[in-house]
Amino acid sequence: MQALLEPPIISNPSNRLLLEDRGIHDWYRFVLSFPAHLVRDYLNHWDLRAGQTILDPFCGTGSTILEAKKLGFRAFGVDANAMAYFASRTKTDWSPDPNGLLQHAQLVAQAAKTLLETNNQSYRELPAEAQSLLLTDSISPLPLHKALILKECLLEMRDERFLPHELLALAKTIVADASNLRFGPEVGVSTKKKLDADVTGAWLNNIKDMAGDLRLVQDLKTYECHVIHADARVIDSLVEPNSVHAVFTSPPYPNEKDYTRTTRLESVLLDFLKTKSDLKDQKQRFLRSNTRNVYKNDDDDQWIQNFDSVMSLASAIENRRIELEKTSGFEKLYARVTKLYFGGIVRHLMTLRSILRPGAYLGYVVGDQASYLRVLIRTGQIVAEIAQSLGYELVGIDLFRTRFSTTTRELLREEVVVLRWRG
Ligand SMILES: C[S@@+](CC[C@H](N)C(=O)[O-])C[C@H]1O[C@@H](n2cnc3c(N)ncnc32)[C@H](O)[C@@H]1O
Repeated sequence: MQALLEPPIISNPSNRLLLEDRGIHDWYRFVLSFPAHLVRDYLNHWDLRAGQTILDPFCGTGSTILEAKKLGFRAFGVDANAMAYFASRTKTDWSPDPNGLLQHAQLVAQAAKTLLETNNQSYRELPAEAQSLLLTDSISPLPLHKALILKECLLEMRDERFLPHELLALAKTIVADASNLRFGPEVGVSTKKKLDADVTGAWLNNIKDMAGDLRLVQDLKTYECHVIHADARVIDSLVEPNSVHAVFTSPPYPNEKDYTRTTRLESVLLDFLKTKSDLKDQKQRFLRSNTRNVYKNDDDDQWIQNFDSVMSLASAIENRRIELEKTSGFEKLYARVTKLYFGGIVRHLMTLRSILRPGAYLGYVVGDQASYLRVLIRTGQIVAEIAQSLGYELVGIDLFRTRFSTTTRELLREEVVVLRWRG
């Protein structure tokens, strides 16, 4: 039997991507994604061989699977958010010829420029229902018009070899260069509005960076990489049994963050969300980590009825609400969403077992929270407790970094819960 490993030395407890890691990771990224070097520290530390399979069941914008692919592993990613799924899939597809991509993008940019100059009609707009999904003022009319013109040219001149990469570059451009959004860590709308932007120029620069990154990885020996748009609470229906050698992931935390809001603008502009019902479908696939995606028939809480720590945490939140006389609909859901969240984690870890190889290591990056009336949620500890009850071995809980909470004015821990599945 193999001895358990000491934790790796985390090379840099910072959220920022190291300069040398920017390649591809930067094509499109959540602001608070964990950095590539954290993934690398753990994958290098565990006893893994090239070609073995790494899974990220909450892959977001793909930090784990991209790093796994760069390091010569087979990789699987799953995400319930269509935009994140698309970003992960595209970032791990290195098939486009870099010169071909650049040449095609230059033709599209020229066409967009001409169309913009000759267009005497009113500004392009989104269909009313799609527009209603956006955060108010998240993009000003002229940058939106320019982004829609560029998208129109991209689709008219579509070349399937390059389209996903060109659209991903458009997603990044819309958010970073054309929008009024600011991230910190929740998404908000800046009071200082960007009334105009060189959308096509910024997009072409992003394509140039992409082409440069693609040139650097053309000769790397790589294994297959699959990304699935699905719900990780039923992970056993998505991945082959007994096939995963290691998991490194960061599920949502119980902290009111709504991943459909964080990605709303680009999801709408790229047509991943067109209607309110698309939005609801997307939210229903998510772990219940915020009160805006709780539904009447949700029943993940049935899985944590025997977990005293979760039940007493939910009671503490509800008691605090009553004591503070908080009566809004959202506040009344705080205790329920906490139970649903950990119930969803139980379902995920329960269904995960059959796809793991005996001896598989797992790293779950989670943060303590205090979003619900300042009641401290020790997310890492509870995840560890749940995992142990399901037969996982707890290797350790490593401190990754601390974060200052503006609500409690305390430092909250962000940790890597390291587990092992002995089979
Ligand atoms: C903390 S983020 C992951 C960030 C990721 N490490 C990265 O590199 O971008 C959590 C992700 O979980 C996804 N998610 C939430 N509920 C899910 C579910 N039930 N199944 C799969 N993914 C889910 C969200 O869409 C979000 O992308």
